[in-house]
Amino acid sequence: MILFIELNTQSAKTVFQNRAKKINYQRLQNLCLIGEYQRRIPVSLTRMIENAYDWEHLPFVHSSSFKSIDLFDEGAWGWQAKAILPDSSSQYLELLVDRDNNYWVTTVLSGDARGFEIHTQAIARQDREIDVLVKFYLPEAFSKVLMLLRTSQRLLPLSLYRRIASKIGIHRVAKNESPKTSILKTLQRQYSVLYDEDETLMSSRQAAIDHRKESKLNGTPESLILGTPEQVTQQLPKVVQFGKQRFVINRWRGEWRVYAAECPHLLGPLESAQIDQNGQITCPWHGYKFDISNGRGCTNNELSLATPPVLTLVDGYLTLSSN
Ligand code: FES
Ligand SMILES: [Fe+2]
Repeated sequence: MILFIELNTQSAKTVFQNRAKKINYQRLQNLCLIGEYQRRIPVSLTRMIENAYDWEHLPFVHSSSFKSIDLFDEGAWGWQAKAILPDSSSQYLELLVDRDNNYWVTTVLSGDARGFEIHTQAIARQDREIDVLVKFYLPEAFSKVLMLLRTSQRLLPLSLYRRIASKIGIHRVAKNESPKTSILKTLQRQYSVLYDEDETLMSSRQAAIDHRKESKLNGTPESLILGTPEQVTQQLPKVVQFGKQRFVINRWRGEWRVYAAECPHLLGPLESAQIDQNGQITCPWHGYKFDISNGRGCTNNELSLATPPVLTLVDGYLTLSSN
């Protein structure tokens, strides 16, 4: 079994390594377009491109579509990774980015949907508003057969579309609907959910960046009175601004804890993260874990939470002070 997995991974690596790491626009003329998905998103191009490169968020932000992901390689050209889907099947994925043209292509390299390509063009409308046009293409092999059949018979080969539909999990096509329409509707629904989730992430990240810039002007106070322990207990987890940063006041195993409300990775929100049995919290964006007692990162990275202020009881009031 182990040998089987290793062989698969090894051959996938070889396939990955042999692929050109650049978008070949000429191939587009050989691909059949299934249809499009369009969306206006209130974020900057910078946030959108950053999101495309960010393979690590897939299982955390899009948990209904991905269970886990393992990176093979990444660079300015994009990334290649093995994703595990919710039904535990795997998919080798590749993303190629053309930075100059704000264009990227996701290709499914293995699994049932092998060969499907998703091409995305982002266009800036305003500083913080973009249009995204997503085009879904059939696998090249299917595209060629379809093109041949169309030119020779002028018939839409429904059986072929049915096979393609089953590849992406459509086993029943609604009455009065062609398999092609079913495929397109399914993809549009999937992408609508994915972009809802991405929009939330990108907007929250932008808000955190903006807040950080504004807070830079704040001086650090010597102390901040939060209230009596009873009052603060009613508000847990309580988020407070102290100088340039936001912190969470919380309790764990009968003790007070103060820890950063923002993840040191990409400013993910930590205020709602549950404290687990080990006294750790998990960032909802990429799953990095932190020990709330000392701020240390518990995932395989160098990141630690910002040093929190000290919490003490002064004249019956919980008070934060700079350390
Ligand atoms: S923002 Fe990436 S793990 Fe927190
Ligand atoms: Fe995403």
